Amino acid sequence: MMTTATQPARLDAQDEFVSEFTGTESRAEPAALFWAASVIAAVLAAWGVALYLGTLLSEWQTPRPRPAYHERLAGLPAGPSLELAGAARGRDIFVQVCAACHGPAGLGLQGLGKSLVHSDFVADSADAALVEFITRGREASDPTNTTKVAMPPKGGNPSLEESDLAAVVMYLRGLQDPRRLPTLPPMASIAKPPSADEKAAALEVAGGDAELAGYIASGTKLFNSTCIACHGPGGVGIQGNGKMLAKNDFIKSQTDDQLLAFVKHGRDPSDPKNTTGIAMPPKGGNPALSDDDLLDVISYLRTLQGVPLKKAESPK
Ligand code: HEC
Ligand code: HEC
Repeated sequence: MMTTATQPARLDAQDEFVSEFTGTESRAEPAALFWAASVIAAVLAAWGVALYLGTLLSEWQTPRPRPAYHERLAGLPAGPSLELAGAARGRDIFVQVCAACHGPAGLGLQGLGKSLVHSDFVADSADAALVEFITRGREASDPTNTTKVAMPPKGGNPSLEESDLAAVVMYLRGLQDPRRLPTLPPMASIAKPPSADEKAAALEVAGGDAELAGYIASGTKLFNSTCIACHGPGGVGIQGNGKMLAKNDFIKSQTDDQLLAFVKHGRDPSDPKNTTGIAMPPKGGNPALSDDDLLDVISYLRTLQGVPLKKAESPK
């Protein structure tokens, strides 16, 4: 009785052991396994397709950023050639005003102005919109400002007229696509000769010294075309661009030759004497200025110090 009761149990166990060991299953199990595998495969495939569709969808919704204009340029046909006189005037203004912050080739200067060659803002804006932008500038506090340095109205040069700014915009098109630039004539100074009023004012500060008055009048013009961008009209300084040069102890402490050397060299933010973290570019960023031009500017700076001019301070 005891043996007959245990016998089937032992055989069952043996059966199970054999089937487990050989991997053979009882008749019903292969079908179940096949279905389970099929369901898993189907779920995985559906998941894969869903992921793929999801990527397609999100790419469609948020397209990858278009390559920048200058990267697409090689594949684009060149625009029409720019008109010679306008492009030349634009180049003269650009080099003598805008280059102080945007560099002579428009590639930007670290800590001052951005590259305008690589600017999609420039590429995507119509001419009139750019003229308007340059007229207004972009304050450091403007939410669209990316550098926390101000782009001053008219690049800091209030004497620029709308036609001048249109010429600069034309030149910007050429900087972005040099294929459109005609061969330009040599640079011409944008500083106009002093007016009769300016000459009279200079003669007064020069205490009647006609020669000195000539230097001051010319220096005023040059200051107002180059240095004004960062130092403001009358050298009052511009927050975030350049220091006040009127009643300035540094200027008072330097001889004309020392000041000439300083202005030619500039003062980089890496210079331990730099107090603003902003660059004073060599020659105020205008490479066209000669030593004589700079000495004229210095004679003008002397008139802003609130002290009577001494004959010894007369330049040259
Ligand atoms: C005193 C320095 C200074 C001068 C001079 C200056 N700029 Fe700028 N400019 C800047 C700065 C700084 C910016 C960038 C502002 C920002 O961070 O958004 C800028 C931005 C610009 C932009 C917009 C670029 C962009 O991608 O957003 C244009 C266009 C421009 N300047 C044109 C000019 C022109 C043309 C002149 C000459 C008439 C000029 N600038 C003179 C400092 C200057
Ligand atoms: C692109 C802007 C810019 C232009 C253009 C520029 N400067 Fe400057 N300049 C500066 C800055 C910024 C400083 C202050 C640097 C520092 O932190 O020490 C400075 C400093 C000076 C100083 C020394 C003042 C002091 O108290 O230490 C003199 C002098 C000066 N500039 C003269 C000129 C003259 C002259 C021109 C035109 C030929 C000119 N600058 C054009 C930005 C400019």
